Amino acid sequence: MCGIFGCVLKSGSAAPIIHSALKRLEYRGYDSVGEATVNMGKLFIKKDAGKIDEVHSLLNLDDLPGEIGIGHTRWATHGAPSRVNSHPHFSCSEPPKIAVVHNGIVENFMELKKELDDAGHVFRSKTDTEVIAHLIEENIGEKELALKTPSSSPFEKAIFNAINRLQGSFAVAVVSSYEPNKVFCARNESPLVLGVAENAFYFASDIPAFLPLTNKAVYVENGEMAILSKNAFEIKKIFDGSSVTRDLKQIDWAPEMAEKQGYPHFMIKEIYEQPRCLRDTLRLQDKYLELLTTFLDRAREVIMVACGTSYHACLAASYMFSKLSFLATHPVIASEFTGQHGKSVNIDSTILAVSQSGETADTLAAVETARQRAATILGLTNVVGSTLTRVSRVYLSQQSGPEIGVAATKTFTSQLSALSQLALRLAKKRGKISQEDIDILDEKVRRIPDIVEKIIETQKEKVKKLATKYRDKSCFFFLARGISYATALEGRLKLMEIAYMPAIAFPAGESKHGPISLIEKGFPVVFVCPPDQTRKTVIGNIMEMKARGALIVAICEENDEEIIRIADDYIEIPKGIPEILSPIPYVVPLQLFAYYMAIERGCDPDMPRNLAKSVTVK
Ligand code: G6P
Repeated sequence: MCGIFGCVLKSGSAAPIIHSALKRLEYRGYDSVGEATVNMGKLFIKKDAGKIDEVHSLLNLDDLPGEIGIGHTRWATHGAPSRVNSHPHFSCSEPPKIAVVHNGIVENFMELKKELDDAGHVFRSKTDTEVIAHLIEENIGEKELALKTPSSSPFEKAIFNAINRLQGSFAVAVVSSYEPNKVFCARNESPLVLGVAENAFYFASDIPAFLPLTNKAVYVENGEMAILSKNAFEIKKIFDGSSVTRDLKQIDWAPEMAEKQGYPHFMIKEIYEQPRCLRDTLRLQDKYLELLTTFLDRAREVIMVACGTSYHACLAASYMFSKLSFLATHPVIASEFTGQHGKSVNIDSTILAVSQSGETADTLAAVETARQRAATILGLTNVVGSTLTRVSRVYLSQQSGPEIGVAATKTFTSQLSALSQLALRLAKKRGKISQEDIDILDEKVRRIPDIVEKIIETQKEKVKKLATKYRDKSCFFFLARGISYATALEGRLKLMEIAYMPAIAFPAGESKHGPISLIEKGFPVVFVCPPDQTRKTVIGNIMEMKARGALIVAICEENDEEIIRIADDYIEIPKGIPEILSPIPYVVPLQLFAYYMAIERGCDPDMPRNLAKSVTVK
């Protein structure tokens, strides 16, 4: 996730406006920043790695001439944060004639890059974005698409040609000395919205970027290109150039709501972002998935190290690897790793370290212990350029964009999506399950984002009511078997950390070896019970709890009459979810429950006491 912004002013200087808008988009990414303006037919570019304030203090981002420009705040996905990988990217010509900023992932960039390499283009960066600038350049004066707008200039046609070749998700914007009075921006899947003021037109990834400047917005839809000039803006279909008319929308957000896009808290915003993040996680780079799979396939022993939510993702992943690819992996809480495995880990060990931030001190300390004993380090993280990416032999990016809420939500589901894709790929490599089963599971992984979206839409109100009903309880139990034990642990962690509700989670089978002694009339027990092979036994555990007066809250498959009949309350999850993917949708109601419990109990979900987003001390 990155933030893009641009403007065409009737008069004045674009650069300071772009700079302050990027500050308002910084929550979308903050590892690099850049701006490009056009003045007197020439392009001016400043960019570097670092937070906006750091780069501004070195380069003075306000000091670029011109009334037209674009800007970008980056969250690396392809290519580590560095000056050369920062946006804007430009084409071969010297001085640059085309500058491009982009949010999203160009899935076919390797193929396009090869084609452009062969045509003699010279690439400077490791990003997918740079292909767009070269592709536009390559298309100038080339074979044109049959666009329906005969008045289109050669440069405009080159942009249409180029954008029509892109696959994946993008919001892309272009300024150029070929067409110095216009900004072109186009969208497929990644967000793009126009701001309309008396003296200016803006485009941005999100409304907050231009909200202090105008509250009149026009949404650009998928497959559309907007062309901004001093006196007008047009929207056209990328496919054929035909014109689109779209009404202005009045935005009524208070400024403090704006950076949360109208949501009251980052946590709920990030819960709602999960379908989009999961779609992005489906676009993981094939090359790195394949490399990681190869390392895992050859490993003598695989130890997964992580903390908090990332540890829960590892626990769920250990079931995936075992069930799909017959690979035994050992999830270990990072702070215990050195004590438990410090002496036994060796050159034959493979460590898969999972960390959203890539900076958690305990995880890095575990990695260091393993590195010193010559183990192979693999990483899964959200922050490309983090310490974990630097110490890993190969790493995978979980692709979920900055997570601001201290309680990790989209991290859990995105990590699980990435890990399930690894497990599936390994299963295929090892020939452990049939191609038919792999195809079915692949298809199910692709459906997960829609399912999560449906759960949020249909179950939100019900979960809210549950929070009202249970807000005054003094303790909660979370029980489950199999892979759902990881879901139970994660649901319990969320409730405890943001609603300050004492809670315990156990494998349901263990509950009778101690925890059951706590049960008395009205004690709430949450059961995570998808319809896998553990379901029958779990029903037995529900009955044991019920017999002692517990109140049962079940997270079960829709229309699971047997469970619905015995539960006091239940949340239904759509049918057809395979066991190994079940933690992704089944955790969502538990995230919502924790959030609404925090609200009911007067706690601020974004600022839980004593906790930090990234714990960089041991
Ligand atoms: C902290 C955060 C948790 C997070 C954990 C691990 O405790 O509050 O939300 O799960 O660190 O963070 P990591 O960045 O390594 O995934």
